[in-house]
Amino acid sequence: MSTTPNTPESATHTTSGTNDSKVRPGSASSTPSAAGKHPAPPCTLVIFGAGGDLTKRLLMPALYNLSVDGLLDAGMKIIGVNHGQRETAAWRDDLKKSLQQFAADKASTFHTAQFDEKAWDWIAQRLEYMAGEFETDDTFTNLKQRIDAKPGSNVIFYLAVSARFFKPISEHLGKAGLLKEGDGGGFRRLVIEKPFGTDLASARDLNAHILGYAKESQIYRIDHFLGKDTVQSILAVRFANALFEPLWRREYLDHVQITASETIGVEGRGKFYEQTGAFRDMVPNHLFQLLGMVAMEPPNSFDAEAVRDKKADLFDAIQPLTRADVVFGQYETGPAGPGYREEPDVAADSHTETYAAARVFVDNWRWAGVPFYLRTGKRMAARRTEIAVHLKTVPFRLFRDTAVDTLTPNVLTLRIDPTHGTSFDFNVKVPGPMMQIGPVQSAFNYSDFFAEGANVGYETLLYDCMLGDETLFQRADSIETSWAAVENVLHPKDGPLPVHGYPAGNAGPEESDQLLARDGRTWRPLSPAREKK
Ligand code: BG6
Repeated sequence: MSTTPNTPESATHTTSGTNDSKVRPGSASSTPSAAGKHPAPPCTLVIFGAGGDLTKRLLMPALYNLSVDGLLDAGMKIIGVNHGQRETAAWRDDLKKSLQQFAADKASTFHTAQFDEKAWDWIAQRLEYMAGEFETDDTFTNLKQRIDAKPGSNVIFYLAVSARFFKPISEHLGKAGLLKEGDGGGFRRLVIEKPFGTDLASARDLNAHILGYAKESQIYRIDHFLGKDTVQSILAVRFANALFEPLWRREYLDHVQITASETIGVEGRGKFYEQTGAFRDMVPNHLFQLLGMVAMEPPNSFDAEAVRDKKADLFDAIQPLTRADVVFGQYETGPAGPGYREEPDVAADSHTETYAAARVFVDNWRWAGVPFYLRTGKRMAARRTEIAVHLKTVPFRLFRDTAVDTLTPNVLTLRIDPTHGTSFDFNVKVPGPMMQIGPVQSAFNYSDFFAEGANVGYETLLYDCMLGDETLFQRADSIETSWAAVENVLHPKDGPLPVHGYPAGNAGPEESDQLLARDGRTWRPLSPAREKK
């Protein structure tokens, strides 16, 4: 997350005077995503899993976007490793075809009005395919020959593979000497995708294994939520404005709701999902990362270690969840389609959860007693990733002798996906002779102020990895403390947690409403029309 000084391009975007509660676009000039950035240093990017979905859907589109923005060095080389013989030309053609399909698809984050042939050719010329099994010595001997072995060469090994290959690939790389950083100053970095372990013991084991071959500073553990601009912006909203931070504490906040609801089902990933479930898939990683951004203490600087230290402190302060803090659900046949048990590769009597809600407490001075309610699920009423910060109600009912008896509390909502922006709910006087108070909303949308360039969410992560900026990557200690906080849920002492049904297309099981109701609170509606229980 490299920071850029305030340049004319990044100067204030003003709002025109308005008499309604919607913020209007101001300056027509837009801030290009790459403003002020320089090309990354030259490097060879080795992608294990060259034929996989991640490479096709996210890595190549992100590299293409970086190439459009001129952020890659001419000396870059991309070696794709995969099992199965094929020609580089055929790999290139396949990638180009899929990129063009995504570019034409309006629903894709890669959608663009015009596919830039020049940017693609730039990438295509640098692609090289290498057939190789991920667990055999030959692959790594061949790789070594291909990689420019002269001292000072920079190499990133990207493990875009199933988690079972994380250990063997890092071990082979280590044993082949490919992770050794030479005296010439060239870097060797290892990028590891999620899931990083499946519980505390496996994450510890994986960390120990990889750390046997690479130093912590060489390891880049990805949580793709941190690649989202709207997630990075949480720190900007908190720490670049005088308004919010003074209120950001137990004295003024009632609770926080973190939602990542999806309308999609398991999308052909039944096998993976049966083993994983919604909780492991989303909570100790993506949702905890959002929690970290929203609840961490201000760092002394945006230096990677300063930020990651504060996040580590936060994860360390999470009170271990108990079974009473968690509700699991599974979608059944409903308005949005067939139930989970009817999905391919899913057992007819599966107890895997496709929905998880949790109440989390952070035991520190700032947050003691403030609940953070987290929820995520597949086949829900709406796609929505957001953080809603609920303020306490005003201390004194000034309006008690008027027609106003209840006031709606203020809510600041940080909208991450699919809309990007923030909304603030507050109260005003309703025009007219009576003293009536009505809730209104002031909304800011990124697209009103900035040209939102094509962005699949991996651009910043790849670029930062090339620069050696680890701010947005997870450190071993944070991964382990996050898993530690959910141990009681993953390995419950009193038998498995119940999994409650909810109709596909709904807002989750009724039991998840009770999780909040017992604290006198309610979830924010996802899509009022569709979520009747
Ligand atoms: C992935 C999960 O890590 O994140 C998926 O494995 C989930 O199950 C996805 O759908 C959600 O990410 P996003 O960016 O689409 O909200």
